Amino acid sequence: MNDELSATLTRRMGGIAYGGDYNPEQWDRATWVDDVRLMCEAGVNLVTIGVFSWSSLEPHDGHFTFGWLDEIIDLLWSNGIAVDLATPNAAPPPWLAENPDTLLVERDGRRVSIGSRGHFCPSSELYRDRSRRIASALAERYQSHPAIALWHIGNEYHAHCFCDTCDARFRGWLQQKYGSLEELNDCWGTTFWSQGYDSWDQVHLPTKVRGHVNPTRELDFSRFTSEVQRELFLAERDLLRAATPGIPITTNFMAFFPLIDYRRWAEDVDVVSLDMYPDPAAPGSLIEAAFQYDLMRSLRHGQPWLLLEQASSAVSQWRVNVAKSPERMRLGSYQAVARGADSVMFFQWRASRYGHEKFHSAMVPHGGESTDTWRAVRALGQELDTLRDVPGSRIRAEAAIVWDWDNKWAVEGAAHPLNSFSYRDVVMEHYRALWRTGVHAEVISLADDLTAYRVLVVPNQYLLRQDSADALRRFVENGGHVLVSYFSGIVDEHDHVALPGYAPGLRETIGAHVRDVTAMPEGEAIPLVVSMEMADLPVSGAATRWQDDIALETATALASYGSGRFAGRPAVTENRLGAGRAIYVGTTLDEGLLEAVMSDLVETAGVRPPLSAPTDVEVVERRTEAASYLFALNHSDQSRNVVLEREAIDRLTGVAYSSGDTLELGPQGVAVLFSARIEA
Ligand code: GLA
Ligand code: ZN
Repeated sequence: MNDELSATLTRRMGGIAYGGDYNPEQWDRATWVDDVRLMCEAGVNLVTIGVFSWSSLEPHDGHFTFGWLDEIIDLLWSNGIAVDLATPNAAPPPWLAENPDTLLVERDGRRVSIGSRGHFCPSSELYRDRSRRIASALAERYQSHPAIALWHIGNEYHAHCFCDTCDARFRGWLQQKYGSLEELNDCWGTTFWSQGYDSWDQVHLPTKVRGHVNPTRELDFSRFTSEVQRELFLAERDLLRAATPGIPITTNFMAFFPLIDYRRWAEDVDVVSLDMYPDPAAPGSLIEAAFQYDLMRSLRHGQPWLLLEQASSAVSQWRVNVAKSPERMRLGSYQAVARGADSVMFFQWRASRYGHEKFHSAMVPHGGESTDTWRAVRALGQELDTLRDVPGSRIRAEAAIVWDWDNKWAVEGAAHPLNSFSYRDVVMEHYRALWRTGVHAEVISLADDLTAYRVLVVPNQYLLRQDSADALRRFVENGGHVLVSYFSGIVDEHDHVALPGYAPGLRETIGAHVRDVTAMPEGEAIPLVVSMEMADLPVSGAATRWQDDIALETATALASYGSGRFAGRPAVTENRLGAGRAIYVGTTLDEGLLEAVMSDLVETAGVRPPLSAPTDVEVVERRTEAASYLFALNHSDQSRNVVLEREAIDRLTGVAYSSGDTLELGPQGVAVLFSARIEA
């Protein structure tokens, strides 16, 4: 992966990029002047423009009105503010919908109408042509404008369409993938329920069926949907790249959006960017945010990424939209930077007066300069200026956790023993336990190079390709420490059960045979008896949701079921293989026990957090060859103390500390401890 363009952006911004989505088309000229004054006060150096400007830039087909955009870009640039210029394809104007084929069709066959956004069919030739045309026009007009620092293609791609054009494209995609109808019949398992196809004309998108679906067809539909949108992105990327080879290109990813495989997309952007909206009212939402940040950083193997949108206070799209406190806004912003973001950006700069998002917070709220939010935004911008040398620095992680979109689609896609199943929730349970150990972690797939890691956590890898199973075995043989949890290694890439059941690909690695599985009734908990071998573990715990029936082969039991049908049989196992160790968890452990198993895994592997700190203080270290920046983030509403292990200066306060000094972090307090690195 080429990091050059992302480094260009870092150099060019000369510090953390700070700003937000700016919609000048909603405001008059007098407000623009006020906007720029306030941006300068807050240290804003980058704004995203044009994301939803299509109808303002091309009010009639082929008739462009770039004058206002010229004016605002010049105004911004004359005040030292750079531009992240968007192509406006996410919200096609009404004139395009005069041709209804440009509109998306839902699964039930209904074509959506205009009045919102994201209503385009990704296969429509007219939509493709017109969105490329305006992207080219923007590229041509602004290619030499010094303000343009970044291209922003579209917005949070997430279209899935069931129209006839998409149907034909799906068929073509399948023909390429499978080569023959026999192969498709095989892989889709069409002897089940008499689904055998005898002509390609019979093969369609999975529109609404009478009852239950064909899971492999659904899985292919998810894969196809990610790809068909990627084509749109690539077409615009290529034309922008040709016009401005030196300007990096991104498209904003959205945490947990379905039907987009961001790992694949990340190869095609120059810099990964993310929109993240942790709910201030949801406990633990900042741990989910940490997971997303680690994922974004890992998608391009450690390359810094951009936080392109977050809320300064409340959003408006949920049922209950609780305002974010200024302290939490600051904490969350530093959390993103700690985990590799080289920007802190918001949706949006100025709160709209009208439209669906008029109650969405902004850097400049309706109440303007009198508000706490504005004061916090201004203070943060000024404070971030003390971190000018942080961009470009990296995080070194020896642990990794797997997040795999293909697996997500498969495991959530069909009837399983347990259908109240959320891959996201299960991965988050594991990530939370890992987060609490304090070690740096990356979020990878089993197709990634595993050699950099000593610890690997593999939650519910239901779909396991043979090469991934082999990679996992080699990882352990070569000294890696792995934790695999239940319902893993069950099917191949076509969602066909791997035989002999279950988990044949994991059998040697975990040293055990998963003979059978069962879901547990909701609300039922089975006591676990924890073996004395794990001296640090609590001696009891409970199993819920799921039970594997495990026969030990080379493994030993770390915990067994204390009652029920499987009483005395192993629930958690440990296997030594080659130079490494594999822990297999055959049930859902309660939080305390999972945390204990996770710390045991990490400690036995010899992986340490950057600094030992209370559990609710997140510590992350970004480094360059010459410098270390230790971010300490207090998630608690109480003060917390951290004992420093080396000399450092807190960049945010200027206070100098010696090794052994205690740093006191106030409630939700943050410190960024700079030390020169003397060791190699
Ligand atoms: C998304 C979109 C923005 C805006 C925000 C609101 O992230 O990209 O246009 O709608 O949500 O939170
Ligand atoms: Zn379509």
